[in-house]
Amino acid sequence: MDIFFELHSNLPREAPGNNDSTAKALSFVPKLPQNPQILDIGCGPGMQTLTLAKITGGHIIAIDNHQPYLDVLQQCAESENLSSHIETYNCSMFSLDFEHESFDLIWSEGAIYIIGFQQGLQNWYSFLKPGGTVAVTELSWLVKNPPSEPLQFWNHEYPNMKYVAENISIIQELGYTYIHSFNLPESAWWDNYYIPLEDRISLLQTKYQGDVEAQSILQLEQSEIELYRNYSHCYGYVFYIMQK
Ligand SMILES: C[S@@+](CC[C@H](N)C(=O)[O-])C[C@H]1O[C@@H](n2cnc3c(N)ncnc32)[C@H](O)[C@@H]1O
Repeated sequence: MDIFFELHSNLPREAPGNNDSTAKALSFVPKLPQNPQILDIGCGPGMQTLTLAKITGGHIIAIDNHQPYLDVLQQCAESENLSSHIETYNCSMFSLDFEHESFDLIWSEGAIYIIGFQQGLQNWYSFLKPGGTVAVTELSWLVKNPPSEPLQFWNHEYPNMKYVAENISIIQELGYTYIHSFNLPESAWWDNYYIPLEDRISLLQTKYQGDVEAQSILQLEQSEIELYRNYSHCYGYVFYIMQK
């Protein structure tokens, strides 16, 4: 765990994403009320939380179970004069107990996979006001019959990964109205995530020379990056937007 957080701390983001994609997803959200109530689940260091606050002017509850990420978000919110819009909570997405129908918008970038796409959307339905919107990103297959290299890697690392059409069916079976989906651009993987992560891997490979366990963790992260370099046309992070 220590090396995991050495790798994954003080990066701009903890998953693919960028402000333009957050803003694009927001543009598909049906009209929000004045001062909308928003829940951001698995917010991490909160790049998307800050963007949501700036664009909507709403009140955001940002939850994560790793306090250092919440501390980063709080510091950024203070320095950007947004702290009156953002409240952070250290809690698990597995034990959320918000009031029934309390949010206009539920957001989750790169985090719903932790509870599962279907389970997360099912659990969060009751927290949404009628007519409220959910927007999430989820790693998804973009092509039928992907080549064996990415197939084997993701079957091992994320066996629940689905095709976009399958995720849209899940959304509809759960009773949401499907609004839109789009694949994040490749720059959203590289600029804020894989490029800084690759730099960190290289630093830690030097620091942990001779440490077999550490090197194997670093190698796994590096191979995920190489895989995306070669097969970005086969899978992507897809934004799914839906309404209650
Ligand atoms: C892949 S990161 C995405 C972070 C951020 N949304 C982003 O796009 O940069 C997933 C986040 O989920 C958080 N997380 C992991 N397990 C969690 C749980 N059980 N409850 C809440 N957050 C969790 C992690 O700490 C991490 O910040």
